[in-house]
Amino acid sequence: TKHLLGIKDLTPEDLHLIFETADNFKDVINRPIKKVPSLRDITIANVFFENSTRTRLSFELAEKRLSADVINFSSASSSVKKGETLLDTVNNILSMKVDMIVMRHSSPGAPHFLSRHIDANIVNAGDGTHEHPTQALLDSYSIREKHGDVAGKKVVIVGDILHSRVALSNIFALQKLGAEVMVCGPNTLIPRYIRELGVKVELDIKKALQWCDIANVLRIQMERQQTKNFPSTREYAMYYGVNKQLLESLDKEITIMHPGPINRGVELTSDVADADNAIILDQVENGVAVRMAVLYLLAGRTQ
Ligand code: CP
Repeated sequence: TKHLLGIKDLTPEDLHLIFETADNFKDVINRPIKKVPSLRDITIANVFFENSTRTRLSFELAEKRLSADVINFSSASSSVKKGETLLDTVNNILSMKVDMIVMRHSSPGAPHFLSRHIDANIVNAGDGTHEHPTQALLDSYSIREKHGDVAGKKVVIVGDILHSRVALSNIFALQKLGAEVMVCGPNTLIPRYIRELGVKVELDIKKALQWCDIANVLRIQMERQQTKNFPSTREYAMYYGVNKQLLESLDKEITIMHPGPINRGVELTSDVADADNAIILDQVENGVAVRMAVLYLLAGRTQ
């Protein structure tokens, strides 16, 4: 395919191919010489209309490790502020002979819209509350690395499911890879359509954690909450915050994941976020190899 717009469009075989390619790149970037010439003469623009630390930096690093030429665009410091449209912005970038666009945008479907109007590879780096495909890929890759396989694992996604592109992409990826998926959070943060996706719903955090092998804990996205019908961060921490006492009350050890950024003391306490069974920084490390794999496969080049 030409684009990576969402996990929904991928087959299980696509996911396994991305992981096997990422295994090779993970070996490469752990060597003293971390760079390969795979994307030499390819130019990639990282076009970010929303804030990012992990996704933007790891795409940039992945591109540089593959020897691509890289330009970075941030809408906050751009002529978007003077009224330029998304399509005009991207067409101007492409006229500088850019081959691939990695884009984050607050509007669900923005990369899909672009894909109908431009002639370049597009990678969705997060579109509003819709999908964040490379996050789900690095999450499943990290589960595979820690647990040997994703198939057969019980994974609970905890928190703000309603506003989370990470939740939706993870649900698609985990199900395609044969995991059992549950979501857990306050009713007001669980969308009605989630049951139609074949996902279990549990409102009791202790029961959800007792059920799972792996808990992927999400941030409460205050910036996307448009009504007041949601818990405050204090209420959320009290009823759904994952803390050491809660984990010690289970009869087993579970793996803790978080896509970042963490709101320490809200969805996770620091003793949980920094514990040995938390693989949060492994997820970030794997993001570079997984994004190298995605860019390499989209470019369709052989070494
Ligand atoms: N996980 C994630 O997408 O983090 P950033 O928003 O910092 O890119």
